[in-house]
Amino acid sequence: MRKGDWLITALLGLVVAGAIAKGIYTAYYPIEDKGIPFYSTASEDVQHRASDLYRDIGCRDCHTIWGIKNIMETVPAPSLDGIGSLRSEDWLYDYFSSKNPQSIIPTRLKAKYGMPSYATLPESERRLLAQYFASMKVKDWYLEEVKAAEYKKLTGNPYPKKQKQE
Ligand code: HEC
Repeated sequence: MRKGDWLITALLGLVVAGAIAKGIYTAYYPIEDKGIPFYSTASEDVQHRASDLYRDIGCRDCHTIWGIKNIMETVPAPSLDGIGSLRSEDWLYDYFSSKNPQSIIPTRLKAKYGMPSYATLPESERRLLAQYFASMKVKDWYLEEVKAAEYKKLTGNPYPKKQKQE
């Protein structure tokens, strides 16, 4: 073997040893699986009709939902998972009906990548989308984890534990 081959073999050995060690570690200290933190409270009928509409009019060219988006597109639009914990059905309906959505949420992107106006979509479809996205909730434990991670990133300190009410 040449010098370079030894190096590669040694590196591969390290990678394999690392993988085995990780396997043993997780067998003894399994990571608790709390499941997917996002869920919809809408009926199956609403979920099906809204998902079809969402796909047909191309929302997923820009947005992620259930962690999935059109992989051919790269617009960094916000993920819509859990959006119903942030926005109400009325708010969503007004947003989809606005002639200028950027007057409600200013865009950080070039105009052609910003949220398009869906004011000309039939009212029933705007209502269906608002109903569906208002039903997309996020579980509290996940919000707490995100908050704690963000706090640590921005301040470098651990997130203060909630004080018990006396
Ligand atoms: C051209 C890309 C694009 C398309 C297509 C698009 N959006 Fe958006 N959307 C965005 C961007 C970007 C934002 C963030 C605000 C902005 O920059 O205008 C946004 C914002 C939103 C928000 C508000 C999120 C929040 O933080 O409150 C909702 C809800 C939303 N879009 C739903 C939809 C739905 C439903 C469709 C399809 C009917 C859709 N979008 C189609 C790019 C897009």
